[in-house]
Amino acid sequence: MENSGLCRAHTNIALIKYWGKRDENLFLPMNSSLSLTLDAFYTDTKVTLEPTAEADTFYLNGVLQGEKETQKIANFIDLFRHEANNNSRVKVESYNHVPTAAGLASSASAFAALSGACRDAFNLELSTEVLSTFARRGSGSATRSLYGGFVEWNKGIDHDSLSSHAIPIDAADWDVAMLVIAVNTGEKKLSSRVGMKQTVETSAFYPAWVESAEKDLIAIKDAIQAQDFIRVGEITEANGMKMHGTMLGAIPPISYWEPESVKAFQKIQEIRAQGIPCYVTMDAGPNVKVLCQGSNIEKIKKILLKDFKPDQLITSGVGSGIQSLKLSDWTY
Ligand code: DP6
Repeated sequence: MENSGLCRAHTNIALIKYWGKRDENLFLPMNSSLSLTLDAFYTDTKVTLEPTAEADTFYLNGVLQGEKETQKIANFIDLFRHEANNNSRVKVESYNHVPTAAGLASSASAFAALSGACRDAFNLELSTEVLSTFARRGSGSATRSLYGGFVEWNKGIDHDSLSSHAIPIDAADWDVAMLVIAVNTGEKKLSSRVGMKQTVETSAFYPAWVESAEKDLIAIKDAIQAQDFIRVGEITEANGMKMHGTMLGAIPPISYWEPESVKAFQKIQEIRAQGIPCYVTMDAGPNVKVLCQGSNIEKIKKILLKDFKPDQLITSGVGSGIQSLKLSDWTY
């Protein structure tokens, strides 16, 4: 019998950003963060135990990956081998339905799906909350992709207490959606890992960022509970801009913006001035994500089509948490 695990995980976009680690080996963040899981972008991953193999193999979108990429996930899979007390090597097959490295958080869905597939392949009984502490050690933002809707990643106390994990906050089933304006889907120049480290170490604004992110988190949780979309949007936009401001304070300064990102931001401000609630957030890349209401998304898209091409505008609803797939669902 084949010992395999198959899992789908959706990506998430942070509304309150994670930007900085207090422990780089354990991926403990400086501040707690909060995200929205999206249904339009996801990763499907299959992990098969290969007890007689000498090394792990990793296929991404059907292409065998080189040593560097394979080593990165092999180290991560060691966490599961250790937990299961099973030293078997594995074959990983992963399909990314996310434009890779374009600031669309492909590492979030990738490590979340890999976590779920490893759990099932190694037959581990782990709650979703505990599994999120494993995903965290692949990529911080992956912690939040274990759940659907609005998700908080509690910064926690330390690793051993398993307190730095994700928790679902709200199903986001009340007219919430996201529109992505793809400005540049090429590989990003500076990874978030390097960018955040540089910011923590050199930006004079960093302590203020951490303080204000904690306040934003409390405020957005209240707004979510009250289903106050405008308030959620205002806090989201302000928090994202503060993160980018903190980066500009780094030495040397960091900016992920491109001219089209600025144009997109201005267009969203104009649309908002016409009375349609919509708010910008951006991550470690030039693409612009617009938090809006599903009931307005087509209207917003139509206005943006005057300035952007149809394939630059990707709409998404709210995504669900990780799901184990059956072999019969594996259509690749
Ligand atoms: C700007 O999770 O990619 O998207 O933990 O080093 O893998 P590592 O970083 P990553 O950083 C995400 C940064 C962000 C904000 C966020 O998703 O919270």
